[in-house]
Amino acid sequence: METSSHDIVLIGGGGAGLRAAIAIAEANPRTDIAMVSKVYPMRSHTVSAEGGAAGVAADDDSIDEHCYDTVSGSDWLGDQDAIEIFCNEVPKELLRLEHWGCPWSRQPDGRIAVRPFGGMKKMRTWFAADKTGFHLLHTLFQTSLKYTSITRYDETFATRLLVDDGTVHGVVAIELRTGRIRAILAKAVIICTGGCGRIFPFTTNANICTGDGMALAYRAGAPLKDMEMVQYHPTGLPFTGILITEAARAEGGWLLNKDNYRFLQDYDLGKPTPTPVLRSMELGPRDRVSQAMWHEFQKGRGFKGPYGDYLHLDLRHLGEHKIETRLPMVRELCLKYENIDPVRQPIPVRPVQHYMMGGIHTDVHGATPLKGLYAAGEAACVSINGSNRLGSNSLGELLVFGARAGKAAVEYVANGVERRHPNHLLAIALDEERRLEHQYTSSDGTERIAKVREEMQRTMERGCGIYRDRATLVESANKLSELKERAARLRLDDHGRSFNTQLTAALELGFMLDVAETIVHCALNREESRGAHQRRDFPKRDDTKYLAHSLVSRTGEGPPRIDYLPVVITRWPPGERIYGRDH
Ligand code: FUM
Repeated sequence: METSSHDIVLIGGGGAGLRAAIAIAEANPRTDIAMVSKVYPMRSHTVSAEGGAAGVAADDDSIDEHCYDTVSGSDWLGDQDAIEIFCNEVPKELLRLEHWGCPWSRQPDGRIAVRPFGGMKKMRTWFAADKTGFHLLHTLFQTSLKYTSITRYDETFATRLLVDDGTVHGVVAIELRTGRIRAILAKAVIICTGGCGRIFPFTTNANICTGDGMALAYRAGAPLKDMEMVQYHPTGLPFTGILITEAARAEGGWLLNKDNYRFLQDYDLGKPTPTPVLRSMELGPRDRVSQAMWHEFQKGRGFKGPYGDYLHLDLRHLGEHKIETRLPMVRELCLKYENIDPVRQPIPVRPVQHYMMGGIHTDVHGATPLKGLYAAGEAACVSINGSNRLGSNSLGELLVFGARAGKAAVEYVANGVERRHPNHLLAIALDEERRLEHQYTSSDGTERIAKVREEMQRTMERGCGIYRDRATLVESANKLSELKERAARLRLDDHGRSFNTQLTAALELGFMLDVAETIVHCALNREESRGAHQRRDFPKRDDTKYLAHSLVSRTGEGPPRIDYLPVVITRWPPGERIYGRDH
């Protein structure tokens, strides 16, 4: 087995991972950093973020207003200390990116342009046309190239954390090109692997978003937080799930049902207004807009399609010039994937899984309860998003908390971590190698990866989608137990070493099943409705019992254990969420 040793290992090379790496290199240039990513960093899912990143920029806006929008958007489940840190630090991060070369869109007089975004009552979303993620990732990647202290392990798939005596000391990973197993030892590990959208059948997430980091942490003994909080984005393309950015509605797009009616006016999100306008009903928060779409489907007011019901997003009234200059990618995606031109035709859309508010439980420094383990970005739950993230808060989140996790890990390492004897760690790594070898070579399995994966996705959509109830959740929990058993008997036909994508898919499926189980059990336990977690059998928010984060821990063979942790309230006591009018 190949072994290497570094000070800090980052797992994940997307926005959070790159920002953390740069923060480490800046904090202490002598820190030896490893970045392990299952893809080339520029192929990380951050690249597909479209609409923008929120941070106070305009004179008529304030940090307190950004905090309040985020708190109420979270339906009071976000931790207010974390939200205050976030809103204070994010404008500095966005400006820093400008200095590193990010081509933010500008106003005619040269100042940074901002656009409205869902649930934000002021214009504060910075953007680079509708390719913000691409430009942000490119900026971070090119900046990271300055630092020779960063060693990259691209196309290297992490399979297990090395934990000894309650402390994390590195990771075991497969080099995908050769199939070689590596033990990468370190004094601290930061997980930045993004979300797990592929657990669901319709998602904006890339194929790589399989919850690897969440599962690695969970298996190693770190709790996950608020996993029941799954965000549906209102406007995905019906079959592929490809994101049609909320910026399309920020620029003035309308959501219409099959009667050509702007139905959101019926759901307490405001009245139809001339566009573009702040607080327009089309810019309600994602949980509320997706729920309204679900109700339209129930009332038979959606269009019927081969992949389920859908509605229309109409941009025609914006005109070709605006669509070409502000939403070029929306047009490109519609032409390529739906063969329609939004300049002339409405876009078919449906709510699709988009983001996990939940993730690895961390404090505001990215530290998990497991010594030596940190997390940032979508893989983590700090929590600023509570039960519903506002669009454009996640790019800022990965910058602020990526940098914080990096700095905290440097400090942890500087304080002198007791290094375990490599033999201890190698014994664990060899154990993992044996497990992987068995998966490479075993041919006695009977189950097919695609079949188990598809059944998992279907059960998640049916039992744990926009609306849930006890019966469907219990059914899903039982189904997932069955699928986990079947996944232990997978049949792999490819026993090759080089780019064995079947093996990767099998390992990813294992990660997804573990994470799916935590989502379903947390959803089953939370007997209230809050934000993205809507229980038909418990339709009201219950602050007496559930103004608290779910913390889910692995128990071995049985179902996961769930504990609750009080939400941090600093200045905004629980209140009513009001949209489309003044609060
Ligand atoms: O619609 C969007 O552009 C998504 C943005 C986000 O999730 O923050």
